[in-house]
Amino acid sequence: MTRSSAPGKVYLFGEHAVVYDEPAVLCAIERRAQVEVEQRSDGKLRVHAEDLSLDGFTVEYGAAADDRPDVDVSESLVTAATQYVDSAIEQVRDVTGDEVGFDVTIESDIPLGAGLGSSAAVAVAAIDAGTRALGTTLESDELADRAYRTEYEVQEGQASRADTFCSATGGAVRVEGDDCRPTESPDVPIVIGFDGGAGDTGELVSGVRSLREEYDFAADTVEAIGDVVRNGEEALVDDDLEEVGDLMNFNHGLLSALGVSSRSLDTMVWAARDAGALGAKLTGAGGGGCIVALDPTPEAETALSFTPGCQEAFRAELAETGVKRLE
Ligand code: MEV
Repeated sequence: MTRSSAPGKVYLFGEHAVVYDEPAVLCAIERRAQVEVEQRSDGKLRVHAEDLSLDGFTVEYGAAADDRPDVDVSESLVTAATQYVDSAIEQVRDVTGDEVGFDVTIESDIPLGAGLGSSAAVAVAAIDAGTRALGTTLESDELADRAYRTEYEVQEGQASRADTFCSATGGAVRVEGDDCRPTESPDVPIVIGFDGGAGDTGELVSGVRSLREEYDFAADTVEAIGDVVRNGEEALVDDDLEEVGDLMNFNHGLLSALGVSSRSLDTMVWAARDAGALGAKLTGAGGGGCIVALDPTPEAETALSFTPGCQEAFRAELAETGVKRLE
């Protein structure tokens, strides 16, 4: 039995625009997906999702195909995570050159599809555990690259390297095109609000792509997000949290213009701002899920926990370590 865990993430700046090679800044957070693997002798893959919930709010997804020849669908929750595991195990097979099979168990306290990088964390942890079970420990860069290929395949070509790199390495990262690197971990007081829902990353990314092809304003908006990110990076270096917050607000407005916010995300963003947060924006693909607010006081978290439509509010600590090798 081999176990690895990998953290989720928030975008301080730059989601969606990062797909078009604009820069983005992300922070890994101490919410983790843990994947345990045990090799099978029959070459099959069996996936068991133990707990894909956030503090008791179970997020369920549609059933995956149960007729694929090499997959036995387990008796438990069959979730979208299965597809990521399936594709991650293909990466493991690619490393070893064997048609090896596994029993895979996932436990996660990162809600799926909610903007906190659940699929990237599952992919990173599954590839790491699978390859280690076969005696190979991948360097962080190769692990991130193989996890990226997993997301790329499942999301049908609609993925940047950002989420998977951040989950594999931990800390704060800067991504621009294929250039992914750790950046100084900003000491930012992060509060998260979760509406209990999820967005479809592939669909949301496609929506932005179509808008960008049809309208100049959308192409300009993507570039404007890049501009916000570059200013945000300077504000982070200067430790100017007020400016970081302002720029997060601008970033949210630009994402709304691209059509990826939602009523519940906007409601949580405004609840956090009204409570005195320095800034607030959606994080990840949008459509539903989570917002990230900047607040050194307890006010935004408290206000969010009383906001209709916000199921859960919590403070997130930076995860300094990416993948953790547990056994
Ligand atoms: C999703 O967490 C972030 C997006 O920018 C897509 C991607 O970068 O792969 C929307």
